[in-house]
Amino acid sequence: MSEVRQILVTSALPYANGSIHLGHMLEYIQTDMWVRFQKLRGNQCIYVCADDAHGSAIMLRAEKEGITPEQLIANVQAEHGSDFADFLVDFDNFHSTHSEENREFAELIYTRLRDAGHIATRSVTQYFDPEKGMFLADRFIKGTCPKCGAEDQYGDNCEKCGATYEPTELKDPRSAISGATPVLKDSKHFFFKLPDFEAMLKEWTRGGALQESVANKIAEWLDGGLQEWDISRDAPYFGFEIPGEPGKYFYVWLDAPIGYMASFKNLCKRRPELSFDAFWSKESSAELYHFIGKDIINFHTLFWPAMLEGAGFRKPTAVNVHGYLTVNGQKMSKSRGTFIKARTYLEHLNPEYLRYYYASKLGRGVDDLDLNLDDFVQKVNSDLVGKVVNIASRCAGFIHKGNAGAMVDANPEPELWEAFQAAAPSIAEAYEHRDFGRAMREIMHLADRANAWIADKAPWALNKVEGKQAEVQEICAFGINLFRQLVIFLKPVLPNLAAAAEQFLNVAPLTWNDHAALLANHQLNAFTPLMIRIEPVKIEAMIEASKEDLAAQSTEAAAPAGNGELVKEPLAAEINFDAFAAVDLRIALIEKAEFVEGADKLLRLTLDIGDAKRNVFSGIKSAYPDPSKLEGRLTLYVANLAPRKMKFGMSEGMVLAAGPGGSEIYLLSPDNGAKPGQRVM
Ligand code: 2FM
Ligand code: ZN
Repeated sequence: MSEVRQILVTSALPYANGSIHLGHMLEYIQTDMWVRFQKLRGNQCIYVCADDAHGSAIMLRAEKEGITPEQLIANVQAEHGSDFADFLVDFDNFHSTHSEENREFAELIYTRLRDAGHIATRSVTQYFDPEKGMFLADRFIKGTCPKCGAEDQYGDNCEKCGATYEPTELKDPRSAISGATPVLKDSKHFFFKLPDFEAMLKEWTRGGALQESVANKIAEWLDGGLQEWDISRDAPYFGFEIPGEPGKYFYVWLDAPIGYMASFKNLCKRRPELSFDAFWSKESSAELYHFIGKDIINFHTLFWPAMLEGAGFRKPTAVNVHGYLTVNGQKMSKSRGTFIKARTYLEHLNPEYLRYYYASKLGRGVDDLDLNLDDFVQKVNSDLVGKVVNIASRCAGFIHKGNAGAMVDANPEPELWEAFQAAAPSIAEAYEHRDFGRAMREIMHLADRANAWIADKAPWALNKVEGKQAEVQEICAFGINLFRQLVIFLKPVLPNLAAAAEQFLNVAPLTWNDHAALLANHQLNAFTPLMIRIEPVKIEAMIEASKEDLAAQSTEAAAPAGNGELVKEPLAAEINFDAFAAVDLRIALIEKAEFVEGADKLLRLTLDIGDAKRNVFSGIKSAYPDPSKLEGRLTLYVANLAPRKMKFGMSEGMVLAAGPGGSEIYLLSPDNGAKPGQRVM
């Protein structure tokens, strides 16, 4: 092979305040497959990532949970780490933006930009929450839309009429954090002078670093004129303080991409053969690729290359953008159970099913990708189980029974062998260009040819014919060789299947170049099934579990989450009396409380609401290990919540509870004397 390439690859850093879901996984799987392909080819390819740990959302979430931001990000990092590992996403390093390396690079880049004259300062007037003592980002301000009068709209756009506006234009503005009326206040802000880099960006964005549609979008922005970028936030903020500017912090998006460098630097400490400068200096001949979603293009194709240029570092070789994930043709939806967390998927299905499905549908462009669950089952079962694994299971038995597991030296169909060889460069090219869909189609076309050839030779029939056993051994040895080819081609997508196949084939870890050789006079190990079919009931169970996650979350949301201490829950936005009166709250008697088979978090409650009975699934099992103790108790019940269909039946309303969650969930009860069915006001 030609010279070994040095390649550094990143995926976008996930926020450290939420779980990974299948939408996120699209990007990590896409990147991981590309990295594994590069490694399989013998290139030096390093894949780094980190949690994106700063910002006010993380600060407020930690406060709500009654823990420090450091505790929150440590908990989330552990969860993210195991989700990625179990989806076979093999980072060389997974670090955090809240790290010493990142602080050093953020300070270095900032001071270099400042000293070169690329930082401006000026006063900005913004809404300030006098009760909370903090400036409010647009999403923390709510009020009445200045255009259509819709109430309860966020500070920068109206969901009702689509208008965009300044938060100061909102009528009756309120802090979404404390409910207080915000006041206008001035503060000094720091700006990165992006327009200084206009000429460089015009050239760089047209120089092959971007997909064409992305470059076109950026060209529109560039033609519209670049604005200076506000990179500072006032205390209280969870992040890094700006050097020499007490009380001023770097905006989370300033130090987030710097996290790519920090993670790599952290890896260099463990891997002395890696040189930071070889990958990041201006003279670097290494390649640098960022994989991102289309929502964060501006940060990676304008701000980030400009920061790198201004601070004397190299720029990315390319930024590879993908589209969004839809499930069954629609946005992921919590109530439909299609908002599927990585962990929920893993509790029901093999990660390689999803890796293959995503591969089969990913192209080079930024189109959205639909996870159609019926198609998913069909494609995985037909391609992986029905075509690829089937070849090995058809042939292995004859070799074990007829020749003690030894493959004979045979190439009975040189033309077919040549066709496999000839396809390799084209499959490699498809991988290289992230055209995974084309790679999968070409591989499955080969699998079809292999299966057709074996079916035509019918070793199962031939084996019964006197004197044909040697031919059977030739056919089956060749079949196993074709299977081995397919495994090599699929290895970036299906690393576990490849490892199991290597064990069966009794070979060292396969590399791309191994495809040129034919195994001959070679002893196999015992054959064990390499992959089983997806049973549709597993899909149903995953959807139901995702609805269950939601039911458990809504119980938690009804209570201040935390570590058991009393935490002041930020008040929700004000509602008028009519909105309150629209909630039909009733007294209910819990007649029956029981476990639900197959549900981890739910109890089934049969409620007597005076003139009727109701069936409610409630996510309170963790607090009531003996549900029978709830029987005979009165509680509060939301009677007019829209019913929700779950696997276990219809959930008709919701009971009310408080507490931080886990074993500390406290069902609410009225004083003695209240009667089932009475309205609560
Ligand atoms: O959009 C997001 O989820 C961000 N946390 C991505 C950051 S990518 C990089 F710049 F750090
Ligand atoms: Zn409006």
